[in-house]
Amino acid sequence: MSPPGLRLRACAKVNLGLEVLGKRADGYHELRTLFQTIDLHDDVGLRLRGRDVVVRSDHLGAPGDASNLAARAAEALRRFAGIEQGVEITLRKRIPVGAGLGGGSSDAAVVLLGLDRMWRLRLGRGGLLPLARRLGADVPYFLYGGTALGLGRGDEVYPLERQLRAWLVVVDPERPVATAAVFARLAAGLTPRENGRNIFRFVTSDLAGVGAVRGLVNELEQAALEEAPDLRERVGRIREVLVTGGAHLAALTGSGSVCFGVFADVAAARAAARRLRQQGLRASVARTVTGAEYRRYWAGPARRTR
Ligand code: C5P
Repeated sequence: MSPPGLRLRACAKVNLGLEVLGKRADGYHELRTLFQTIDLHDDVGLRLRGRDVVVRSDHLGAPGDASNLAARAAEALRRFAGIEQGVEITLRKRIPVGAGLGGGSSDAAVVLLGLDRMWRLRLGRGGLLPLARRLGADVPYFLYGGTALGLGRGDEVYPLERQLRAWLVVVDPERPVATAAVFARLAAGLTPRENGRNIFRFVTSDLAGVGAVRGLVNELEQAALEEAPDLRERVGRIREVLVTGGAHLAALTGSGSVCFGVFADVAAARAAARRLRQQGLRASVARTVTGAEYRRYWAGPARRTR
């Protein structure tokens, strides 16, 4: 018997670094990015019932209808596998929406992995990958998690041997930014970049510990701040608190607008988060989730999932 219902964790990601290599013929941009999952997560409930895909969301920014990426993921898998049974998806959103944390993509990947299990399809990550790629550029990464390199549109995912173990301060300026609009601003001027080899350095060097993230750059930041100029001052202030508080890296994730700092020390991370909250900012502490930890979550029998 398949389990009638599952409650699953869908982790957020940050882009530790993001380099834009050029514009592609399909309108997307060729990227080189370093993904990292963190323990900030949405709860995704799956219940097999009826003949339709129904999604309920507790967040206004994540639509409770068929346009929701999680619903599209279920529909795509159902069609692919020739399943007639419906599913009710319940989303409890904790990951800020439109923030660069990949919440919608993560929910969608978890729906694919969860339904693969509930419908006993045994497609696994490899079998789900083509469906994930069609849903969105960030969805494939969430089949793997951990510290991983993303190439192509970000949808060619290479889990890395080097897994970052660190504490993050995640700061939400509560100002959603549209990803497509940020990328559209880039098209005008892709300039040669001095930082082009920093991700290469992260992947290949023997630099020990959290310090390896130093020098990573998000090349979408400038375009994001042009798209949302009201954020510029706030982002500057956030970065200042993170860096003076001991962050090895302080950056924007994806196309923004969430900023994060990477810390070796949890006490320093907590102190920086406290200072940011004193300034009226929404700041929380998270920990990195390694690829092994992420994949272990999916490896056991269904009762181990919660
Ligand atoms: O794939 P996804 O729907 O998440 O991407 C959102 C938008 O971001 C795309 O429509 C595209 O405009 C832009 N994008 C891009 N290059 C990428 C990823 C996304 O131009 N590698």
